[in-house]
Amino acid sequence: MSGKGVFIVFEGIDGTGKSTLSKKLKAWLEEGGRDVVLTAEPTEDWLGAAVRRANQEDLDPRTESLLFTADRCQHTLRIDELLKRDKVVICDRYYGSTVAYQGAALEHDMGENAVSWLLNLNGPVVRHPDVTVLLTSDPGVAMLRVGNRGDPSKFEREGYLRRVQETYLMLAREAAWTVIDSNGDLNEVLEAVKRVVQAYV
Ligand code: TYD
Repeated sequence: MSGKGVFIVFEGIDGTGKSTLSKKLKAWLEEGGRDVVLTAEPTEDWLGAAVRRANQEDLDPRTESLLFTADRCQHTLRIDELLKRDKVVICDRYYGSTVAYQGAALEHDMGENAVSWLLNLNGPVVRHPDVTVLLTSDPGVAMLRVGNRGDPSKFEREGYLRRVQETYLMLAREAAWTVIDSNGDLNEVLEAVKRVVQAYV
C-alpha cells in the first residue's frame, strides 16, 4: 500500500450496507498498515444536527439542500486536512446523497433543473473523491433491512427511494463511479469493494 491520502466515498439508499462495509474496509486497510478515518454525512457537529432537525421537520427540500451542502462545506475542509496528513478517509455519503435524495424530492417542482441546480450548488463545495462506490439494492429489500416494515407510508417511501436510486445510477454513469450490487453475500460485496480500492491505496 502506498501511503498518500486517499478519499473513498460510499453512496447508496438506506439499507445498502454502507456503514458496515465502511467499517470492514477500514479494518482491512489498517491491517495493510494505513491510517484510516471513518466519517459520515450528515456530520456529528452542529451543522449536521441542524440537517437532522430539518429532516424531521419536513422542511422545504430546497432549504434541506442548502443545509446539507453547508454541512458538507465545513466537512470537506476537515477531510482536506486529513488527506494532507496522508490518512485514508472513508466517507459514508457525500454530495451524491444531496443530488439523489433532494433531487428526487425536488423533481415535482423543478423537473430536470433540480439535479443541475444541486450539482452546481455542490461543485465549489466538494473535493473530488478518488473512489466512489455506489451500493445498489432493490428498494423494497433495502427498506426491510432498515426495519421499515409496518410503516403506513412504506409504499410512498419505496417509490421515492426508487427515484433516488435512479438518480444515483445516472450520476454513477456520468462520474464513472463503481456500482456494486449489495444484495449478495456481504463478504463477496466486501471483496468487490477491496478490488476497486486496491488500485488507489
Ligand atoms: P443516514 O446516512 O441514514 O444517517 P444516520 O443514520 O446517521 O442518521 O442519513 C440520514 C438520511 O439523510 C438518509 O435517509 C439520507 C438523507 N440524506 C439526504 O437526504 N441528503 C444528503 O445530502 C445526505 C448526506 C443524507
